[in-house]
Amino acid sequence: MNKKIIVIGSTNLDLVFQTENFPKPGETIKSKDFSMLSGGKGSNQAIAASRLGGNVSFISKIGNDDFGQRSIKELNLSKVNCDYVFTDHEAVSGVAVILINEKGENSIVMAPGANNLLSVSDIDNASPIIKNAAIILIQLEISIDTVKYLLKTVASSESKIIFNPAPMHLLDDWMYAKIYLITPNESESESLTGIKITDIETASQAADYFLNKGVKNVVITLGAKGAFFKNKDEEFHIPAKKVKVVDTTGAGDVFNGALAVALGESKNWREIIKFAIAASTISVGKLGAQTASPYRSEIISNN
Ligand code: RIB
Repeated sequence: MNKKIIVIGSTNLDLVFQTENFPKPGETIKSKDFSMLSGGKGSNQAIAASRLGGNVSFISKIGNDDFGQRSIKELNLSKVNCDYVFTDHEAVSGVAVILINEKGENSIVMAPGANNLLSVSDIDNASPIIKNAAIILIQLEISIDTVKYLLKTVASSESKIIFNPAPMHLLDDWMYAKIYLITPNESESESLTGIKITDIETASQAADYFLNKGVKNVVITLGAKGAFFKNKDEEFHIPAKKVKVVDTTGAGDVFNGALAVALGESKNWREIIKFAIAASTISVGKLGAQTASPYRSEIISNN
């Protein structure tokens, strides 16, 4: 069944520099290559979910500029419903400066711009579709007050909330109880729980922290090592296939988008996590976030 997925979050223009190494403080380095690509965690996750077969609507805010229009074009091409992508006429659209080193690792600085202005009244305006969502996918590149309002507003509905705590921001205790599935990476998990993940046992301890706070299900992404899942009934680790890494930017976004799709298809947890790992593994083989986001047919032919 193709359940309605709502993604709420950021839209950015990514300025991507491919360099040998990251510059040290005070150093100027030359980039080997440069690209301007549509990005933003929210927009990336919406596109990932839609390309993988989800029925996706996106709630976001852009500036009245070319950057924002460029992002809308990409979202439309990927069949994401943008009826609730609002435009602020004063602010600029979000921008991210992304450095990719030779190992495919990235370093990102983001200027939120209009993303910070996605307000509680925008959420109220979009409430008809939020109330009807089967799955709501949220990250933290928008104002935390808007995220809090959203969690409170939708709390009474039947929606399953997937919460990707990226970039890291400390959460109030009450927020955890609203979350159906939390998806931190290792460093976000450590910042939220205080537990450093060094192996499966410590991943399990970190997952317990979230479960004890009231989250129903936990997936901790482990980069090239795959992902760890835990809820009250089961826990397991699924490793990732070894592949040549070109750029890891947006791999977490593809993972989250894929989780939303698989969750809507009533797969079991192992199948859901395997599907998300397969999708994100494909995405690290290409440059960029949305440019590397796979279509459903690619997952089938890769597995
Ligand atoms: O997760 C990757 C995204 O983070 C990039 O597209 C960039 O816009 C930053 O927000």
